[in-house]
Amino acid sequence: MAAIISGKELSARLKAEMAAQVATFPTKYGRVPHLAVILVGEDPGSVSYVTGKAKASAEVGIRNTTLRRPESITEAELLGLIAELNADPGVDGILVQLPLPRHIDEERVIAAIDRTKDVDGFHPMNVASLWQKQACTLPCTPKGIIKMLKTAGVEIAGREAVVIGRSNIVGLPVAKLLLDENATVTMTHSRTRDLGEVTRRADILVVAIGRPKFVTADMVREGAVVIDVGVNRDPETGRLCGDVDYAAVEPKAAVITPVPGGVGPMTICCLMENTIECFLARIER
Ligand code: GUN
Repeated sequence: MAAIISGKELSARLKAEMAAQVATFPTKYGRVPHLAVILVGEDPGSVSYVTGKAKASAEVGIRNTTLRRPESITEAELLGLIAELNADPGVDGILVQLPLPRHIDEERVIAAIDRTKDVDGFHPMNVASLWQKQACTLPCTPKGIIKMLKTAGVEIAGREAVVIGRSNIVGLPVAKLLLDENATVTMTHSRTRDLGEVTRRADILVVAIGRPKFVTADMVREGAVVIDVGVNRDPETGRLCGDVDYAAVEPKAAVITPVPGGVGPMTICCLMENTIECFLARIER
């Protein structure tokens, strides 16, 4: 029987703390933080994420403006919108929901966001700062994962951490944060030979590949800590499921995160925290 880290409960607690903090801002600073979210197109997954961000903003007391634009928007138009938000002193955070349509260069769009308003931590300057261990906005999902591990009392220093997946959004930055916590980190991916042999070494296993129930019980060491970043539809039941075969892995793990209610809510929670941090940095400048 594993201990279950509820991202839902932890994020609810952290959001309540942030709400109390934000409630003091109108008196202290004359306004609350303002997050602008840009959603291009109608992808149901993206619509659902953006709705979740608006709901969390309301809970915390952050002003949220969601700007919806059609799939047909040109890159120049999107860059123009970002330039307007960059120049608006009343906007503290800008988030462009990814993925963008194929005709738009994602890298160019992310780089166009004012670094000090980059609440995702995706701007090249924030990424560079992360890898140089300088102060920066941390990407939300990796930040949330480290918070979950620490809250659950998981010791990270000196332990074997294995990350499956090497995306810019999760795999790469979470590996760096685990390294900063003094774990011995191994990154694995689609070209890794004998993946199970590597994952069985993991004291802490982070899975972020987007393949339903990919991690099976035989890939996990008895007593491991398993962090499941996946949000997939189970092809058999149509229900949400993670990258980990939860029913099979849970009995072997010491600690595990569920899907839904695990990493997902923590990502949004950290977005709220990043928005507050960007707001405070702006006020102090
Ligand atoms: N799409 C999937 N995850 C994310 C995220 O963390 N931020 C943004 N902007 N888009 C995403």
